[in-house]
Amino acid sequence: MTVAARVGGLAVSPIRRMAVGAREGTVSLALGEPGWPMPAPARRSLEHQGRTGGPLPYGPNSSSPELVAAVAGQHGIPLAPEEVMVTSGSQAALFALFHAHVEAGSAVLVPDPGFVAYRSLAQLCQAHPVGYALGPGGALDVDLVEAALGEALRSGRPVSVVVVNHPANPTGGLADAESLRRLAELCTRHGAVLVSDEVYRDLWVGAGGQPAGLHEVAGLAAGVVLGSVSKAFGAPGLRVGWAVGPAELLAPARVVHNAMTTAPARPSQDAATALLTSAGEVLPAARREVARRWEVLAEVAPELLALADAVAGRPHPGPAAGTGSCSGQQPAAGAGSRSMSRAGFYLWLPLPAGIDPAGTTAFALRVRDESLVTTVPGVAFGPRGAGFLRVSLGGPVEELVEGLLRLAPWWEG
Ligand SMILES: Cc1ncc(COP(=O)(O)O)c(C=O)c1O
Repeated sequence: MTVAARVGGLAVSPIRRMAVGAREGTVSLALGEPGWPMPAPARRSLEHQGRTGGPLPYGPNSSSPELVAAVAGQHGIPLAPEEVMVTSGSQAALFALFHAHVEAGSAVLVPDPGFVAYRSLAQLCQAHPVGYALGPGGALDVDLVEAALGEALRSGRPVSVVVVNHPANPTGGLADAESLRRLAELCTRHGAVLVSDEVYRDLWVGAGGQPAGLHEVAGLAAGVVLGSVSKAFGAPGLRVGWAVGPAELLAPARVVHNAMTTAPARPSQDAATALLTSAGEVLPAARREVARRWEVLAEVAPELLALADAVAGRPHPGPAAGTGSCSGQQPAAGAGSRSMSRAGFYLWLPLPAGIDPAGTTAFALRVRDESLVTTVPGVAFGPRGAGFLRVSLGGPVEELVEGLLRLAPWWEG
């Protein structure tokens, strides 16, 4: 048996790997998914479909027109149907876009630290993932992207795709409107396809409002924007996502997606349509869930929040209104989110003083095995993630409280 060279260097996601070998009773603060119940419009749609007799056909290859219209309807700029590609999760959109636009041997610019799939997919396309550094707090800094781009060009590699992720996994970093415009110009100048992963963009909390979106600030031609029902719409198990962009960029990617999976599952497409057409209720409810989790953090482990804010250069809202000890399900309001703008549900947490960044994974494993709580070592997201853990606040609140209580003592003293 031979394994294709392009697959040889890949491994199972390091996030999943943290679960392997975990002792019974370990609480997970590792998985990046919502832990609140699937919203009612999706549940009702699936129940309805379960009761309907008759065959269950494939979905239409180019997705149901209702779902395409629903994606277009909440995107923020007017769109034609051919400017929307519905996929089996936004990860399948990434797979299809990369396979359509990344030449073997080219460079793909990815954030470092950044979502793990960007690097793996570049490698699957036999291209070179080139990490670009981020600004304070994980913010997009176009000068740093330009520096990485220059380096790739000097080493003789054309840049095929540039990926930006905002709000970012794992740092929660944002991209301001001016930076997005400058990045779009940079990509146009170099003939690179810009992919703007905005799957967390609806999960903002606090007074700042919704973070900037690429198409709103730079127009449709600026690149491809990714969205998903997996985060703010609370239904990762449906596996429905989408790419929105110029028709000529999406057309070849549709062919790849089609070859890969024919079409997203039909029940999922219908449930996703129900979610998107109920965005007015579903999204504010999701933001309340996320705000509550930041409040829980501020109540249960205020020192961890303060440390993460300090290292990110974020103004910290001051001590929690509560005692700093766990008061269960009724956290004090204000310190975690209301007075601060945050986005997404990740805490990007520096290691305790005195722990060598080179031992980031060893430290995460020690915490897992001695305190029974999993996090993700920052190096899983790229070499610049050394010295950090990603703590997901997205799960069920009771587990979050328990996990934080197990985690916090490592930073004491
Ligand atoms: C930044 C980012 N992009 C894309 C995805 C893929 O999400 P999905 O395929 O569920 O839409 C994830 C999942 O964690 C993510 O964090």
